[in-house]
Amino acid sequence: MDYIIIFFLLSVYTWLYFFTRRSGLQKSGVATRLPPGPYPLPIIGNILELGDKPHHSLAAVSKTYGPLMSLKLRRITMIVVSSCEIAQEFFSKHDISFSSRSVPSAIRVIDSHNTSMVWLPVGDQWRRFRRICKEHLFSARQLDASRFLRKQKVQELLDFVHGCRMSGKPINIGETVAITTLNVLSNYIFSTDLAQYDSPSSQEFKNMVWAVMEIAGAPNLADYFPVLRSLDPHGLLRRSKFYNKKLLAIFEHYINELLHDLFLAGTDTTSNTLEWAMAELIHNPEKMLKARAEIKKGIGNDERTFEESDISRVPYLRAIIKETLRLHPLITFLVPHKAITDVEIKGYMVQTRRSCVTCGPWVKTQTFGRTHKGSSQRGRRRCLGLPLADILLHLMLGTLIHKFDWKIKGGIRTKDMDMTDKFGFTLKKILPLMAIPVKL
Ligand code: HEM
Repeated sequence: MDYIIIFFLLSVYTWLYFFTRRSGLQKSGVATRLPPGPYPLPIIGNILELGDKPHHSLAAVSKTYGPLMSLKLRRITMIVVSSCEIAQEFFSKHDISFSSRSVPSAIRVIDSHNTSMVWLPVGDQWRRFRRICKEHLFSARQLDASRFLRKQKVQELLDFVHGCRMSGKPINIGETVAITTLNVLSNYIFSTDLAQYDSPSSQEFKNMVWAVMEIAGAPNLADYFPVLRSLDPHGLLRRSKFYNKKLLAIFEHYINELLHDLFLAGTDTTSNTLEWAMAELIHNPEKMLKARAEIKKGIGNDERTFEESDISRVPYLRAIIKETLRLHPLITFLVPHKAITDVEIKGYMVQTRRSCVTCGPWVKTQTFGRTHKGSSQRGRRRCLGLPLADILLHLMLGTLIHKFDWKIKGGIRTKDMDMTDKFGFTLKKILPLMAIPVKL
Protein backbone atom coordinates (compact mmCIF):
# COMPACT_ATOMS: atom_id res chain seq x y z
CA MET A 1 0.00 0.00 0.00
CA ASP A 2 2.86 2.36 0.96
CA TYR A 3 4.35 1.80 -2.48
CA ILE A 4 1.11 2.80 -4.16
CA ILE A 5 0.97 6.04 -2.16
CA ILE A 6 4.64 6.84 -2.90
CA PHE A 7 4.12 6.14 -6.60
CA PHE A 8 0.99 8.29 -6.62
CA LEU A 9 2.79 11.21 -4.92
CA LEU A 10 5.76 10.91 -7.26
CA SER A 11 3.46 10.92 -10.31
CA VAL A 12 1.60 14.01 -9.08
CA TYR A 13 4.90 15.75 -8.33
CA THR A 14 6.36 14.95 -11.78
CA TRP A 15 3.17 16.02 -13.49
CA LEU A 16 3.04 19.31 -11.55
CA TYR A 17 6.73 19.93 -12.25
CA PHE A 18 6.27 19.61 -15.99
CA PHE A 19 2.97 21.49 -15.91
CA THR A 20 4.55 24.52 -14.24
CA ARG A 21 7.47 24.40 -16.68
CA ARG A 22 5.18 24.28 -19.69
CA SER A 23 3.15 27.21 -18.46
CA GLY A 24 6.37 29.13 -17.97
CA LEU A 25 6.26 29.33 -14.17
CA GLN A 26 8.98 27.91 -12.02
CA LYS A 27 9.38 28.27 -8.23
CA SER A 28 11.84 31.09 -8.82
CA GLY A 29 9.24 32.90 -10.91
CA VAL A 30 11.58 32.87 -13.92
CA ALA A 31 9.68 32.21 -17.14
CA THR A 32 11.12 29.29 -19.12
CA ARG A 33 8.45 29.32 -21.84
CA LEU A 34 9.28 26.11 -23.59
CA PRO A 35 7.49 25.75 -26.92
CA PRO A 36 4.19 23.87 -26.54
CA GLY A 37 4.04 20.09 -26.75
CA PRO A 38 2.22 17.06 -25.42
CA TYR A 39 2.24 16.66 -21.64
CA PRO A 40 4.97 14.30 -20.56
CA LEU A 41 4.18 11.17 -18.58
CA PRO A 42 5.89 10.72 -15.24
CA ILE A 43 9.43 9.35 -15.57
CA ILE A 44 9.33 8.49 -19.28
CA GLY A 45 8.22 11.92 -20.51
CA ASN A 46 7.14 11.91 -24.19
CA ILE A 47 9.24 8.95 -25.28
CA LEU A 48 6.16 6.98 -26.36
CA GLU A 49 5.17 9.76 -28.78
CA LEU A 50 8.14 8.89 -31.00
CA GLY A 51 7.09 5.34 -31.88
CA ASP A 52 9.16 3.40 -34.41
CA LYS A 53 8.47 5.96 -37.17
CA PRO A 54 9.22 9.29 -35.45
CA HIS A 55 9.00 11.21 -38.75
CA HIS A 56 5.35 10.18 -39.13
CA SER A 57 4.36 10.38 -35.44
CA LEU A 58 5.90 13.84 -34.97
CA ALA A 59 4.20 15.12 -38.14
CA ALA A 60 0.89 14.05 -36.57
CA VAL A 61 1.75 15.63 -33.17
CA SER A 62 2.79 18.91 -34.83
CA LYS A 63 -0.71 19.23 -36.32
CA THR A 64 -1.90 19.77 -32.73
CA TYR A 65 0.99 21.82 -31.28
CA GLY A 66 2.17 23.74 -34.31
CA PRO A 67 5.45 24.16 -36.19
CA LEU A 68 7.57 24.85 -33.09
CA MET A 69 7.06 22.32 -30.32
CA SER A 70 8.98 20.64 -27.55
CA LEU A 71 9.04 17.10 -26.21
CA LYS A 72 10.58 15.86 -23.00
CA LEU A 73 12.65 12.79 -23.66
CA ARG A 74 13.63 12.21 -20.06
CA ARG A 75 16.83 14.29 -19.69
CA ILE A 76 16.73 15.78 -23.20
CA THR A 77 14.36 18.51 -24.34
CA MET A 78 13.73 17.94 -28.02
CA ILE A 79 12.77 21.06 -29.96
CA VAL A 80 10.98 20.12 -33.16
CA VAL A 81 10.78 22.67 -35.98
CA SER A 82 8.50 21.92 -38.89
CA SER A 83 8.06 25.10 -40.88
CA CYS A 84 10.47 26.74 -43.31
CA GLU A 85 9.93 30.14 -41.75
CA ILE A 86 10.92 29.02 -38.23
CA ALA A 87 13.76 26.85 -39.58
CA GLN A 88 15.16 30.00 -41.20
CA GLU A 89 15.04 31.78 -37.87
CA PHE A 90 17.02 28.94 -36.26
CA PHE A 91 19.58 28.39 -38.99
CA SER A 92 19.96 31.87 -40.53
CA LYS A 93 19.25 34.45 -37.86
CA HIS A 94 20.53 32.37 -34.90
CA ASP A 95 22.84 30.12 -36.92
CA ILE A 96 25.85 30.37 -34.60
CA SER A 97 23.73 29.66 -31.50
CA PHE A 98 22.49 26.37 -32.98
CA SER A 99 25.71 25.28 -34.63
CA SER A 100 26.67 22.55 -32.20
CA ARG A 101 25.54 18.92 -32.34
CA SER A 102 23.51 16.80 -29.96
CA VAL A 103 25.40 13.51 -30.09
CA PRO A 104 23.57 10.16 -29.69
CA SER A 105 25.15 7.47 -27.50
CA ALA A 106 25.66 5.21 -30.54
CA ILE A 107 28.09 7.85 -31.90
CA ARG A 108 29.71 8.61 -28.53
CA VAL A 109 30.52 4.97 -28.01
CA ILE A 110 32.82 4.97 -31.07
CA ASP A 111 34.26 8.37 -30.14
CA SER A 112 33.19 9.95 -33.45
CA HIS A 113 32.11 13.18 -31.74
CA ASN A 114 35.80 13.99 -31.14
CA THR A 115 36.98 13.36 -34.67
CA SER A 116 34.13 13.46 -37.20
CA MET A 117 33.25 16.62 -39.14
CA VAL A 118 29.57 15.69 -38.91
CA TRP A 119 29.60 15.50 -35.07
CA LEU A 120 32.40 17.86 -33.98
CA PRO A 121 31.27 21.12 -32.37
CA VAL A 122 32.11 24.27 -34.32
CA GLY A 123 35.79 24.87 -33.59
CA ASP A 124 39.24 24.80 -35.18
CA GLN A 125 39.27 21.14 -36.20
CA TRP A 126 35.76 21.32 -37.72
CA ARG A 127 36.71 24.54 -39.58
CA ARG A 128 39.87 22.92 -40.93
CA PHE A 129 37.91 19.91 -42.25
CA ARG A 130 35.27 22.09 -43.91
CA ARG A 131 37.90 24.33 -45.48
CA ILE A 132 39.76 21.35 -46.96
CA CYS A 133 36.50 20.00 -48.43
CA LYS A 134 35.36 23.32 -49.80
CA GLU A 135 38.68 24.24 -51.39
CA HIS A 136 39.94 20.88 -52.58
CA LEU A 137 36.85 18.80 -53.26
CA PHE A 138 33.64 20.74 -53.77
CA SER A 139 34.69 24.12 -55.18
CA ALA A 140 33.21 25.02 -58.59
CA ARG A 141 36.71 24.74 -60.10
CA GLN A 142 37.29 21.23 -58.68
CA LEU A 143 33.84 20.06 -59.72
CA ASP A 144 34.45 21.32 -63.23
CA ALA A 145 37.85 19.64 -63.40
CA SER A 146 36.35 16.26 -62.42
CA ARG A 147 33.60 16.31 -65.08
CA PHE A 148 35.38 13.70 -67.21
CA LEU A 149 35.68 11.32 -64.25
CA ARG A 150 31.92 11.45 -63.60
CA LYS A 151 31.23 10.86 -67.29
CA GLN A 152 33.45 7.77 -67.23
CA LYS A 153 31.82 6.37 -64.06
CA VAL A 154 28.29 6.94 -65.39
CA GLN A 155 29.31 5.20 -68.65
CA GLU A 156 30.38 2.18 -66.56
CA LEU A 157 26.96 2.27 -64.88
CA LEU A 158 25.31 2.35 -68.30
CA ASP A 159 27.40 -0.62 -69.49
CA PHE A 160 26.38 -2.61 -66.41
CA VAL A 161 22.67 -1.82 -66.99
CA HIS A 162 23.04 -2.82 -70.68
CA GLY A 163 24.49 -6.17 -69.56
CA CYS A 164 21.55 -6.76 -67.19
CA ARG A 165 19.08 -5.84 -69.91
CA MET A 166 20.60 -8.42 -72.26
CA SER A 167 20.23 -11.14 -69.61
CA GLY A 168 16.85 -9.84 -68.32
CA LYS A 169 18.33 -9.56 -64.83
CA PRO A 170 16.69 -7.26 -62.24
CA ILE A 171 18.84 -4.51 -60.79
CA ASN A 172 18.91 -3.37 -57.20
CA ILE A 173 18.81 0.34 -58.05
CA GLY A 174 19.96 1.69 -54.66
CA GLU A 175 22.91 -0.69 -54.42
CA THR A 176 23.96 -0.11 -58.03
CA VAL A 177 23.98 3.69 -57.89
CA ALA A 178 25.69 3.52 -54.48
CA ILE A 179 28.59 1.79 -56.27
CA THR A 180 28.70 4.51 -58.93
CA THR A 181 28.67 7.22 -56.23
CA LEU A 182 31.28 5.45 -54.14
CA ASN A 183 33.60 5.06 -57.14
CA VAL A 184 33.15 8.70 -58.16
CA LEU A 185 34.19 9.72 -54.64
CA SER A 186 37.06 7.23 -54.36
CA ASN A 187 38.47 8.18 -57.77
CA TYR A 188 38.08 11.81 -56.87
CA ILE A 189 40.21 11.28 -53.80
CA PHE A 190 42.55 8.30 -54.39
CA SER A 191 42.21 7.66 -58.16
CA THR A 192 40.95 4.13 -57.67
CA ASP A 193 37.65 2.20 -57.61
CA LEU A 194 36.55 0.95 -54.19
CA ALA A 195 33.66 -1.22 -55.42
CA GLN A 196 32.58 -3.37 -58.36
CA TYR A 197 29.08 -3.92 -59.72
CA ASP A 198 27.49 -7.21 -58.77
CA SER A 199 30.15 -8.12 -56.25
CA PRO A 200 29.17 -9.53 -52.83
CA SER A 201 31.78 -7.36 -51.09
CA SER A 202 30.22 -4.19 -52.56
CA GLN A 203 26.82 -5.33 -51.36
CA GLU A 204 28.31 -5.97 -47.94
CA PHE A 205 29.70 -2.44 -47.92
CA LYS A 206 26.29 -0.95 -48.71
CA ASN A 207 24.69 -3.06 -45.96
CA MET A 208 27.28 -1.84 -43.48
CA VAL A 209 26.74 1.82 -44.37
CA TRP A 210 22.99 1.34 -43.98
CA ALA A 211 23.47 -0.42 -40.63
CA VAL A 212 25.60 2.50 -39.35
CA MET A 213 22.99 5.04 -40.52
CA GLU A 214 20.11 3.01 -39.08
CA ILE A 215 21.83 2.66 -35.70
CA ALA A 216 22.70 6.37 -35.49
CA GLY A 217 19.07 7.33 -36.21
CA ALA A 218 17.25 4.75 -34.11
CA PRO A 219 15.52 6.02 -30.95
CA ASN A 220 17.61 4.71 -28.07
CA LEU A 221 16.53 4.52 -24.41
CA ALA A 222 20.19 4.84 -23.39
CA ASP A 223 20.14 8.44 -24.75
CA TYR A 224 17.37 9.41 -22.35
CA PHE A 225 18.33 7.25 -19.35
CA PRO A 226 22.17 7.34 -19.10
CA VAL A 227 21.94 4.75 -16.35
CA LEU A 228 20.90 2.24 -19.03
CA ARG A 229 24.01 2.83 -21.15
CA SER A 230 25.93 -0.06 -19.67
CA LEU A 231 22.92 -2.36 -20.28
CA ASP A 232 22.59 -1.20 -23.92
CA PRO A 233 18.86 -2.18 -24.01
CA HIS A 234 18.50 -2.31 -27.82
CA GLY A 235 22.01 -3.61 -28.52
CA LEU A 236 22.62 -0.42 -30.55
CA LEU A 237 25.90 0.52 -28.87
CA ARG A 238 27.32 -2.95 -29.45
CA ARG A 239 26.19 -2.93 -33.10
CA SER A 240 27.53 0.60 -33.62
CA LYS A 241 31.00 -0.49 -32.45
CA PHE A 242 30.87 -3.64 -34.58
CA TYR A 243 29.88 -2.00 -37.90
CA ASN A 244 32.10 1.06 -37.52
CA LYS A 245 35.08 -1.15 -36.76
CA LYS A 246 34.36 -3.19 -39.88
CA LEU A 247 33.99 -0.07 -42.04
CA LEU A 248 37.21 1.42 -40.74
CA ALA A 249 38.96 -1.88 -41.44
CA ILE A 250 37.81 -1.73 -45.10
CA PHE A 251 39.19 1.78 -45.47
CA GLU A 252 42.26 1.20 -43.36
CA HIS A 253 44.71 1.58 -46.23
CA TYR A 254 43.28 4.76 -47.56
CA ILE A 255 41.40 6.68 -45.09
CA ASN A 256 41.50 9.03 -42.18
CA GLU A 257 38.49 10.31 -40.26
CA LEU A 258 37.69 13.07 -42.73
CA LEU A 259 37.47 10.69 -45.65
CA HIS A 260 35.50 8.16 -43.59
CA ASP A 261 32.94 10.97 -43.06
CA LEU A 262 32.73 11.84 -46.71
CA PHE A 263 32.18 8.28 -47.85
CA LEU A 264 29.58 7.64 -45.19
CA ALA A 265 27.73 10.95 -45.61
CA GLY A 266 27.95 10.97 -49.41
CA THR A 267 27.17 7.44 -50.58
CA ASP A 268 24.03 6.52 -48.70
CA THR A 269 22.31 9.90 -49.13
CA THR A 270 22.93 10.18 -52.86
CA SER A 271 22.09 6.57 -53.72
CA ASN A 272 18.91 6.48 -51.64
CA THR A 273 17.69 9.77 -53.14
CA LEU A 274 18.28 8.35 -56.61
CA GLU A 275 16.46 5.15 -55.66
CA TRP A 276 13.43 7.20 -54.49
CA ALA A 277 13.47 9.28 -57.69
CA MET A 278 13.51 6.14 -59.86
CA ALA A 279 10.81 4.51 -57.71
CA GLU A 280 8.57 7.58 -58.07
CA LEU A 281 9.04 7.68 -61.84
CA ILE A 282 8.31 3.97 -62.26
CA HIS A 283 5.30 4.40 -59.94
CA ASN A 284 4.11 7.38 -62.05
CA PRO A 285 4.73 6.21 -65.66
CA GLU A 286 3.24 9.34 -67.26
CA LYS A 287 5.91 11.43 -65.47
CA MET A 288 8.61 9.04 -66.66
CA LEU A 289 7.39 9.51 -70.27
CA LYS A 290 7.34 13.29 -69.89
CA ALA A 291 10.87 13.38 -68.41
CA ARG A 292 12.23 11.09 -71.14
CA ALA A 293 10.62 13.16 -73.89
CA GLU A 294 12.21 16.28 -72.44
CA ILE A 295 15.66 14.66 -72.34
CA LYS A 296 15.38 13.45 -75.93
CA LYS A 297 14.34 16.91 -77.08
CA GLY A 298 17.10 18.56 -75.00
CA ILE A 299 19.84 16.29 -76.38
CA GLY A 300 18.52 16.40 -79.93
CA ASN A 301 20.68 13.43 -80.94
CA ASP A 302 19.52 10.00 -79.89
CA GLU A 303 22.92 8.38 -80.37
CA ARG A 304 24.74 10.08 -77.59
CA THR A 305 24.22 9.71 -73.84
CA PHE A 306 22.91 12.30 -71.39
CA GLU A 307 25.71 14.59 -70.15
CA GLU A 308 26.28 17.19 -67.47
CA SER A 309 26.05 19.99 -70.02
CA ASP A 310 22.45 18.86 -70.77
CA ILE A 311 21.23 19.42 -67.20
CA SER A 312 20.42 23.09 -67.82
CA ARG A 313 18.14 22.05 -70.73
CA VAL A 314 15.88 19.74 -68.70
CA PRO A 315 13.83 21.80 -66.18
CA TYR A 316 11.31 18.99 -65.68
CA LEU A 317 14.05 16.55 -64.63
CA ARG A 318 15.42 19.18 -62.25
CA ALA A 319 11.94 19.58 -60.76
CA ILE A 320 11.77 15.79 -60.28
CA ILE A 321 14.96 15.82 -58.20
CA LYS A 322 13.67 18.73 -56.10
CA GLU A 323 10.34 17.02 -55.62
CA THR A 324 12.10 13.79 -54.57
CA LEU A 325 14.12 15.69 -51.96
CA ARG A 326 10.90 17.29 -50.68
CA LEU A 327 8.85 14.11 -50.48
CA HIS A 328 11.68 11.88 -49.27
CA PRO A 329 14.05 14.12 -47.30
CA LEU A 330 16.86 11.66 -46.75
CA ILE A 331 18.11 13.00 -43.44
CA THR A 332 14.60 13.65 -42.17
CA PHE A 333 15.49 15.49 -38.98
CA LEU A 334 18.83 16.95 -40.13
CA VAL A 335 21.79 15.91 -38.01
CA PRO A 336 20.50 17.01 -34.56
CA HIS A 337 21.65 20.52 -33.66
CA LYS A 338 22.36 21.73 -30.14
CA ALA A 339 22.12 25.27 -28.80
CA ILE A 340 25.30 26.83 -27.43
CA THR A 341 23.52 29.90 -26.01
CA ASP A 342 19.96 30.33 -24.75
CA VAL A 343 17.85 31.82 -27.52
CA GLU A 344 14.34 33.22 -27.55
CA ILE A 345 12.38 32.31 -30.68
CA LYS A 346 8.76 33.26 -31.35
CA GLY A 347 8.33 34.11 -27.65
CA TYR A 348 9.65 30.74 -26.44
CA MET A 349 12.98 29.95 -24.85
CA VAL A 350 15.32 27.31 -26.27
CA GLN A 351 17.93 26.60 -23.65
CA THR A 352 21.39 25.18 -24.07
CA ARG A 353 20.94 22.68 -21.30
CA ARG A 354 20.39 19.28 -22.88
CA SER A 355 18.56 20.73 -25.84
CA CYS A 356 18.37 18.88 -29.11
CA VAL A 357 16.97 20.73 -32.12
CA THR A 358 15.64 18.71 -35.00
CA CYS A 359 14.16 20.06 -38.18
CA GLY A 360 11.21 18.36 -39.82
CA PRO A 361 9.00 16.48 -40.10
CA TRP A 362 7.57 18.78 -42.70
CA VAL A 363 3.81 18.61 -42.83
CA LYS A 364 3.58 17.92 -46.51
CA THR A 365 1.54 16.81 -49.47
CA GLN A 366 2.14 13.09 -49.83
CA THR A 367 1.70 12.79 -53.58
CA PHE A 368 4.61 13.06 -55.98
CA GLY A 369 4.46 15.80 -58.58
CA ARG A 370 3.72 19.02 -56.72
CA THR A 371 5.24 22.09 -58.35
CA HIS A 372 7.17 24.04 -55.76
CA LYS A 373 10.15 26.28 -55.26
CA GLY A 374 12.09 23.68 -53.33
CA SER A 375 13.88 24.37 -50.10
CA SER A 376 17.56 24.77 -49.51
CA GLN A 377 19.63 24.09 -46.42
CA ARG A 378 20.93 26.98 -44.39
CA GLY A 379 23.52 27.74 -41.79
CA ARG A 380 27.12 26.82 -41.15
CA ARG A 381 26.33 23.13 -40.64
CA ARG A 382 24.60 22.80 -44.02
CA CYS A 383 25.64 19.92 -46.25
CA LEU A 384 28.84 20.67 -48.11
CA GLY A 385 28.55 17.73 -50.51
CA LEU A 386 25.28 18.88 -52.11
CA PRO A 387 26.91 20.53 -55.17
CA LEU A 388 28.46 17.17 -56.09
CA ALA A 389 25.34 15.18 -55.14
CA ASP A 390 23.22 17.51 -57.25
CA ILE A 391 25.27 16.86 -60.39
CA LEU A 392 25.41 13.11 -59.78
CA LEU A 393 21.67 12.81 -59.17
CA HIS A 394 20.76 14.56 -62.43
CA LEU A 395 23.42 12.75 -64.41
CA MET A 396 22.54 9.25 -63.17
CA LEU A 397 18.76 9.70 -63.32
CA GLY A 398 18.88 11.32 -66.77
CA THR A 399 21.11 8.51 -68.07
CA LEU A 400 19.00 5.68 -66.62
CA ILE A 401 15.69 6.92 -67.97
CA HIS A 402 16.96 8.22 -71.30
CA LYS A 403 18.21 4.86 -72.54
CA PHE A 404 15.81 2.41 -70.86
CA ASP A 405 12.28 1.84 -69.80
CA TRP A 406 11.88 -0.01 -66.49
CA LYS A 407 9.57 -2.65 -65.11
CA ILE A 408 9.30 -4.14 -61.64
CA LYS A 409 10.67 -7.58 -60.78
CA GLY A 410 7.97 -10.25 -60.40
CA GLY A 411 5.56 -8.53 -62.81
CA ILE A 412 4.18 -6.27 -60.04
CA ARG A 413 2.01 -3.50 -61.50
CA THR A 414 3.69 -0.12 -61.07
CA LYS A 415 0.70 1.32 -59.28
CA ASP A 416 0.89 -1.52 -56.72
CA MET A 417 4.54 -0.85 -55.79
CA ASP A 418 5.27 -0.61 -52.07
CA MET A 419 6.44 2.98 -51.50
CA THR A 420 6.70 2.69 -47.69
CA ASP A 421 9.78 4.17 -46.01
CA LYS A 422 11.85 2.86 -43.15
CA PHE A 423 13.14 5.21 -40.46
CA GLY A 424 16.86 5.47 -39.78
CA PHE A 425 19.40 8.26 -39.84
CA THR A 426 18.58 8.22 -43.55
CA LEU A 427 15.12 7.38 -44.79
CA LYS A 428 15.22 4.46 -47.19
CA LYS A 429 12.64 2.36 -49.02
CA ILE A 430 11.45 -0.51 -46.85
CA LEU A 431 11.69 -2.81 -49.89
CA PRO A 432 14.69 -2.16 -52.15
CA LEU A 433 13.72 -1.14 -55.67
CA MET A 434 14.43 -4.18 -57.89
CA ALA A 435 13.84 -3.02 -61.47
CA ILE A 436 14.43 -4.63 -64.86
CA PRO A 437 15.75 -2.44 -67.68
CA VAL A 438 13.78 -2.72 -70.92
CA LYS A 439 14.96 -1.71 -74.40
CA LEU A 440 13.17 1.34 -75.73
C1 HEM B 1 21.26 13.78 -51.91
C2 HEM B 1 22.39 13.79 -51.23
C3 HEM B 1 22.60 14.44 -49.88
C4 HEM B 1 21.67 14.86 -48.95
C5 HEM B 1 20.14 14.79 -49.04
C6 HEM B 1 22.42 15.39 -47.82
C7 HEM B 1 21.84 15.94 -46.68
C8 HEM B 1 22.54 16.46 -45.60
C9 HEM B 1 21.93 17.03 -44.42
C10 HEM B 1 20.42 17.20 -44.19
C11 HEM B 1 22.93 17.39 -43.57
C12 HEM B 1 22.76 18.02 -42.18
C13 HEM B 1 22.63 19.53 -42.25
C14 HEM B 1 22.38 20.14 -40.87
O1 HEM B 1 22.54 19.46 -39.87
O2 HEM B 1 22.03 21.33 -40.82
C15 HEM B 1 24.17 17.03 -44.21
C16 HEM B 1 25.42 17.24 -43.65
C17 HEM B 1 26.59 16.80 -44.22
N1 HEM B 1 26.75 16.24 -45.48
FE1 HEM B 1 25.27 15.84 -46.80
N2 HEM B 1 23.75 15.25 -48.07
C18 HEM B 1 23.91 14.69 -49.31
C19 HEM B 1 25.10 14.40 -49.97
C20 HEM B 1 26.36 14.55 -49.41
C21 HEM B 1 27.60 14.24 -50.06
C22 HEM B 1 27.73 13.72 -51.51
C23 HEM B 1 28.60 14.49 -49.16
C24 HEM B 1 30.10 14.32 -49.30
C25 HEM B 1 30.69 13.56 -50.17
C26 HEM B 1 27.98 14.98 -47.93
C27 HEM B 1 28.66 15.35 -46.78
C28 HEM B 1 28.08 15.92 -45.66
C29 HEM B 1 28.83 16.31 -44.46
C30 HEM B 1 30.33 16.14 -44.24
C31 HEM B 1 27.91 16.88 -43.56
C32 HEM B 1 28.18 17.44 -42.16
C33 HEM B 1 28.46 18.94 -42.24
C34 HEM B 1 28.75 19.55 -40.85
O3 HEM B 1 28.24 19.08 -39.85
O4 HEM B 1 29.50 20.54 -40.82
N3 HEM B 1 26.61 15.01 -48.13
N4 HEM B 1 23.91 16.47 -45.45
